[in-house]
This record gives sequence, structure tokens and C-alpha cells, in this order.
Amino acid sequence: MTTLIPTGEMAAAVDTFLAAQPPARRWDADHLDWTHADAGRLTEGQRSAVRFVTMIEDHLPGYVDVYHRHFPVDASVGPAVFAHHRELYHFTARWAAEEDTHARALARYQWESGLADRDALRTELAGPGAHPFGLDYTHPVQYFTYALVQEKATQIYYRQLRDLVDEPVLATLLGLLARDEARHFSFFADVVGRYLRAHGDAVVAPIRDVVADFRMPLADMGGYWRWALRIADVARYDHTDAYAHLVRAVDRAVDTRTDRLDELVRFVDSCRTLTPTGGPA
Ligand SMILES: [Fe+2]
Ligand SMILES: [Fe+2]
Repeated sequence: MTTLIPTGEMAAAVDTFLAAQPPARRWDADHLDWTHADAGRLTEGQRSAVRFVTMIEDHLPGYVDVYHRHFPVDASVGPAVFAHHRELYHFTARWAAEEDTHARALARYQWESGLADRDALRTELAGPGAHPFGLDYTHPVQYFTYALVQEKATQIYYRQLRDLVDEPVLATLLGLLARDEARHFSFFADVVGRYLRAHGDAVVAPIRDVVADFRMPLADMGGYWRWALRIADVARYDHTDAYAHLVRAVDRAVDTRTDRLDELVRFVDSCRTLTPTGGPA
């Protein structure tokens, strides 16, 4: 498939990602001191925010499935494409393990802190968890652009929430989550930059389409989206917060912007939410 970046480019991005988290810096849910987790120290809005992000992180199997479907590592592709997808899989496997740790740690926070009963939470998460992850793009760069925006938006949200909560176990957890999402963002920004260098103006329209149609995961589940808006008075979850970082990734990738890139940057900027819908000023 000529729309991919060369396999060596993908391998270099994956090498950089894996090297950025040496074993000593890895963590999992068992490393937190759960004895002091106390949802009684959270406001009603903060409790709702924790439940919301648990649901988003718990939707991981659907998200990983998107990669398996669109970057298959099997006989449905020829050897050259297989080699590219196999390199990407080194990333996907580690990334999925880290996101699963997020889902597990947030769920554990809920039952250790008294926010939810473990069995009831499992049942509650099964509904949105089974909801299809509707991501069907025509160009590979679109999956990486989507993830770039989503990872950065999530990182920003976790950081905002961490600065607001007065509960040390949750604050520690949110700090760990934000740090991971920042690394995930860096990988996707690196890959999108490599696409721009390899394919130039040919990837501008596909990237533009991602921004034009952007939906957060589960956004098509009306009830959950209303929930997201309701928690905006705690900390704003706004994917357009990430757009400045997309523009920066574009600028880092190219020495001089072409006319088409200029137009893309203007468009991305115009999609940003200029008036905050809530949260601290
Ligand atoms: Fe995550
Ligand atoms: Fe992430």
C-alpha cells in the first residue's frame, strides 16, 4: 500500500516510543497505595468525572480492535505491508497494555475509595464497553491523527483534574495517567510528522477530514456525551484543546509550509473552541 510510510520510518517511531519508557519507570495498579483512597474527599462533580474517564478508558478492546482490523498482521496483506504492520504492532501491544492499566487502575480506584461496588461497576461498564468503536477512515494517516488529538485531549484533562482534586491517591493516579498519555501523544505526533515528510500535500486532505469530523470515543452514545458536558464544570474535556499541538506537529515536520499546509493550519485553528465552556478561568 503506497499510502503507508516506509517500514523503516515506522520502525524508527516505534523504537523511540519504546525507549522512552524504560522498565524502571513502568507502573501498574498494584503500585498505588490504595489504603488511603477515599472518594469521600471528592466533590460530586469530581466523582462523576472519575466515573466518566473510567468508562472511556475501559472501552480499550474496541479501540485496539480498530488497529487489528485496519493494520492486519496476517495473510490478508502481502509481505511488505505485513512487515510495516508488524513494526506497528510492537507499538500497539505496549500501548494497549498501558491503556489497560489505566482502565484497571481507575476501576480499582472506584472500589477501593468507596465510589462504587466492584461487581456493580463491572456490570455498568459492560454496556458502553460493548458499544462499537466507529472509526472507519480511508487513509492510514487518519488513524494516527485521530489518536494524536485524543491522547493530547486526555492528557490535558487528566492534568486539569489532578490539579483540582484534594485526594492524594487519585492525584497520584491522574499524574501517572497524564504522563502516559503524553508519551502516547508523542508517538502519534511523530508518526503524523513522518507522513507529512514522506507524502507532503497528499496527506493534507485526509488530516483535514479527521479534524472536520472529530468525535471523541462513545460520542455517539447520547447519554454519555451529555454526561461529558455536565462534568465540564469540574474540568473541561475538550478535544479542540489538542489542536494547537497538531499544528505544532505539522510545523515540526516541515521546513516551510506549502499553500495547502497553510490552509490546513488555518482550518485547524478555526476549529478550536475559543470560549471556554466551563472550568477554572
Ligand atoms: Fe489512557
Ligand atoms: Fe493513551
